Amino acid sequence: MGEHDGYLLGMTPGEVARLADQHEVWRERTTRLWTLAGVAAGQTVVDLGCGPGFTSLDLAGLVGPAGRVVAVDASKTAIAQLARALGDRAIANVIGVEGNAGAIDLGVWSPDVVLSRWLFCFLPDPAAIVRRIADALAPGATLAVMDYAHYLAVDTQPSAPIVRRVFRAVYDSWADAGGSLDVAGLLPTHFDAAGLRVIAVESLSQAGGPGSPVWRWVSTFQRLYLPTLVEKGYLTEDERAAMGEFWASLEADPGALFFAPPILGVVGRK
Ligand SMILES: C[S@@+](CC[C@H](N)C(=O)[O-])C[C@H]1O[C@@H](n2cnc3c(N)ncnc32)[C@H](O)[C@@H]1O
Repeated sequence: MGEHDGYLLGMTPGEVARLADQHEVWRERTTRLWTLAGVAAGQTVVDLGCGPGFTSLDLAGLVGPAGRVVAVDASKTAIAQLARALGDRAIANVIGVEGNAGAIDLGVWSPDVVLSRWLFCFLPDPAAIVRRIADALAPGATLAVMDYAHYLAVDTQPSAPIVRRVFRAVYDSWADAGGSLDVAGLLPTHFDAAGLRVIAVESLSQAGGPGSPVWRWVSTFQRLYLPTLVEKGYLTEDERAAMGEFWASLEADPGALFFAPPILGVVGRK
């Protein structure tokens, strides 16, 4: 695979930097999910769809020297980036593996916990992947997924039709690539069908005004992805410019708010 590695957003240096900052913005929510999943020292944890491994590096500290993290991603570029970070930090308890969630056998690592953040929204058949993971888990092992649900609830205060237009374009581009930004709402059904008992469903979303971390997060996303939406015909250049102007007006309004799309953490146990 090349620089884009088949990943919708492209594993470019700009995207790697965005993922690093995204991890800062969502770390506290993510850690809350890991606590609900029972992540602890000494465990074997799989980080499925780990990207460049920002979560994997945190997990390495949580499982400690007696535990291990198996960090799996389909992108060669992402796994190479993780390998560099592991070398730089002399981290020995993380194994980076290039692999596809639809083909890899996770059972060989006997994981205590499988974690997956923002992978399922890219998968054409999330039910099949849940089943595959569930089949690889031993009784008592856990799957915890963090992803989008009911994405079109994203909005701003004050709102404007251009906001809904832009995020609808994001949503449609995801669906046309075979994914779904509503995926997390169906996870309890998929877990149940795969023999996983749902032990927690946690709302992990955020809202914030100009200058807040979540504002920075969505501003960066727009800067990187809206030009692609124009290139692919989901938005016109005029619409992109109108969104830019509206966003600038919000940034001048100390009362403005951005409501991130709903994000759910779903934890299931075999
Ligand atoms: C939005 S990134 C999230 C990365 C990381 N989980 C995080 O939260 O920082 C999505 C990742 O899923 C990976 N991915 C997409 N489809 C995949 C598949 N079928 N199997 C494995 N990885 C996949 C992409 O290569 C990309 O690194």
